[in-house]
Amino acid sequence: MHVIAARDHRPTEDPIFTLALEAKARIERGESIVNATIGAAMNDAGKLAVLPTAAKALRDVSDADLAAYAPIPGRTDFLNAVKKDLLATVPTLLDAAVAIATPGGSGALRAAIQNFLEPGQALLTTNYYWAPYLTLADDAERRVETFSMFTADGSFDVADLDRAVGDQLAKQGRVLLFLNDPCHNPTGYSMKREEWRRVIEALVAHADKGPITLLVDTAYLEYSAGDARAFLPELVPALGKLAVLFAWSASKTFTLYGARIGALIACLGDATERRATEAALAYSCRGTWSNCNHAGLVAVRNLLEDPKLNTAVNAEREALKKTLLERVDAFNELARAKGLRYPRYEGGFFVTVFHDDSFTHAKTLRDLGVFVVPQKGTLRVALCAVPVAEIPRLVDALAMGTNGQG
Ligand SMILES: Cc1ncc(COP(=O)(O)O)c(C=O)c1O
Repeated sequence: MHVIAARDHRPTEDPIFTLALEAKARIERGESIVNATIGAAMNDAGKLAVLPTAAKALRDVSDADLAAYAPIPGRTDFLNAVKKDLLATVPTLLDAAVAIATPGGSGALRAAIQNFLEPGQALLTTNYYWAPYLTLADDAERRVETFSMFTADGSFDVADLDRAVGDQLAKQGRVLLFLNDPCHNPTGYSMKREEWRRVIEALVAHADKGPITLLVDTAYLEYSAGDARAFLPELVPALGKLAVLFAWSASKTFTLYGARIGALIACLGDATERRATEAALAYSCRGTWSNCNHAGLVAVRNLLEDPKLNTAVNAEREALKKTLLERVDAFNELARAKGLRYPRYEGGFFVTVFHDDSFTHAKTLRDLGVFVVPQKGTLRVALCAVPVAEIPRLVDALAMGTNGQG
C-alpha cells in the first residue's frame, strides 16, 4: 500500500450520490420515482434549474480572461463585488472585510478550517450539519464537535452553544464555529434575528478566554423567504471581539455549481490582524488550489456589478425562489396535517423530518420509489428537487406507518 496508513481506508462511495444514482437508474427503467436526494434545484419539469443569464455570463467571458491565470487570492474586482453583495447594507462590516476567492463555498470552508484551527482541533457546529463539514475537517486533520441545535420547543439552542463554546475554550483554547444560515442544510431552519442577537451575545461573553471565530456559511442565502441580509446588523457588536467570517458561494446564488466559484470573507476589527489574516488566506490559496477558475470569477463579477445582468439574473432567481417557496408551502400544509415532526421551515433547498428508525423507513420509501437521505434519527428531504405535484406522494410516504410520531 503506497497511500499512507491514515488514508488507506477512505470510503469509496458518497452515500448521497449512490442513492441519487439508484434513483436515476430506476427512472431510466421507466419507474415513477420521487428523487428528494439531490442538492441542486430542479424545475417542475424535473430538469436542472439554470438561471439563463448566469450561464450566458459564463459563456460570454473573453478568450483572454478565460485562458489567463487569475491572481492567487482572486481578482480584486470580483472580491470587491462579493464583499459588497453581502455586506453593503452594513458598512461597519464591509469596511472591516478582507477576502479570497475560493473553489465554491467548500473551498472557503477548507481555508477557514486550516487557518483558524490548529491541527487536531475540532470545529464546532450544530448537531445536524452538512456531512462534508466532517470530510473537510478530517482531510485537513481537524475534527468536528457539535452542540444541540434545537431546544425542546424547537428554537435555536443558544444555551447549549454557550456550554460548548466554554468547553472548547477550556479544552483547546480557541473556537471555530460554523453556522449555516439562513436555510440551514439539512434542517431548513433559518434563525430569527433575536436568535442571532443572543448567539452573538453569548460568543462575545466568552471572547476574553481565547480567539473565537464565527463562520457564517451563506450557501443558501438568496433562497430565504424574507430579507436574507436582515441578520447582518446583529453581527456588528462582534467586531473587534470575534473574527467574523462568511463562506459565500456562487453555486446556488447563480446556479453555477460546476463553475466552482466562492469566497471567504473575513471581517476583523483590528487593521494589523486584518492584513495578517489576508496574507495567511492568500498563502493558503497558493498552497491548495493556487488560483480559481478565471472565467467564473469574471462571470460572477459581471453578474454582480453590471446593472443589466444583475437585474436580469435577480429576476430569474426570484422566479426560481417562488417555485421553491410554493413547494415549501405545499409541504408545510400537508406535513403538518399528517403530524410529521420537523423544524420550523420557511424556505431553502432542504427540510429534515425527524424519525427514530430513519434508515429502515428510508429503505421502505425507496422500495416505493421515494428517495430521501437517512441520517441518524432524521430523513433529509431535498424539496429543491421535487416538483410541486409530487409533494403529496412524498409526504404520504414520509408519514406512512408512523402516524407522524416516528
Ligand atoms: C451547507 C453547505 N455549505 C456549503 C456548500 C458549498 O457548496 P459549493 O462548494 O458548491 O459552493 C453547500 C453545497 O451543497 C452546502 O450545502
